[in-house]
Amino acid sequence: MAILKIARMGHPVLQAPAEAVADAGAPEITRLIADMIETMADAAGAGLAAPQVHVPKRVVIFHLPEGRAGNGGEGGEDGNGGEGGNGGPRPPTVLINPVVEPLDDEVEVDWEGCLSLPDMIGAVPRYVRIRYRALNPDGEAIERTAEGFHARVVQHECDHLDGILYPMRMPDLTLFGFAEEMRRHVPAGRTEEAL
Ligand code: NI
Repeated sequence: MAILKIARMGHPVLQAPAEAVADAGAPEITRLIADMIETMADAAGAGLAAPQVHVPKRVVIFHLPEGRAGNGGEGGEDGNGGEGGNGGPRPPTVLINPVVEPLDDEVEVDWEGCLSLPDMIGAVPRYVRIRYRALNPDGEAIERTAEGFHARVVQHECDHLDGILYPMRMPDLTLFGFAEEMRRHVPAGRTEEAL
C-alpha cells in the first residue's frame, strides 16, 4: 500500500468527470482502494474520492465516525456489517460507480471541509435524505438510504466524481473561509470534517 498525494483545488483532475470502473475486481482497483484507505487515514479525513488522488475513476470511500451515522435505516445499513464487529473502528465504506438520488426536496445547510481545500470550510446545502446505489469491492450491487451526515458525505464524495467541489454548491460565499477564522467568528462553524 502507499500513501498517495492529494490533489488540491485548481488541479484539473478535480474538475473533470471521472470514468466508470469497468471491473470492480481488477487488481488496479483493489490496489487503488487500499491506497485510498491508507491515504484517508493518514490525512485524517472522513471521505476521499479517487480523483482526489489523481485517479479519474468513479470510486469513493468514506468513514462514518461513531455516532455520526445519521441514518434512519441504520439497522438495514449493512455495508460495514460483519467487518467491524464491536470495539475497533469501522472500516471505511467503499462505493464503486455510485449513483445518488434525493428522496425528497428537503435540504439542510451544514459545514464541510475537504482534503483538496486544506484548512478551509464552508456551509453547504445538501439533500437530507438520499438513496444511493453502487458496487462494493466484491462487485456486488448495493443500495442504501441515508440521511444527515451520512447523506452529506455521500453527496460530497460523489460530487468529486463529477468535477464538483463543495464551494461550487454554495449560494453564500460569505460562509466560506479558513477554518481557523470561521471557528473564531462564526459560532456554528466548528463541526466540519475533511471530506
Ligand atoms: Ni472532498
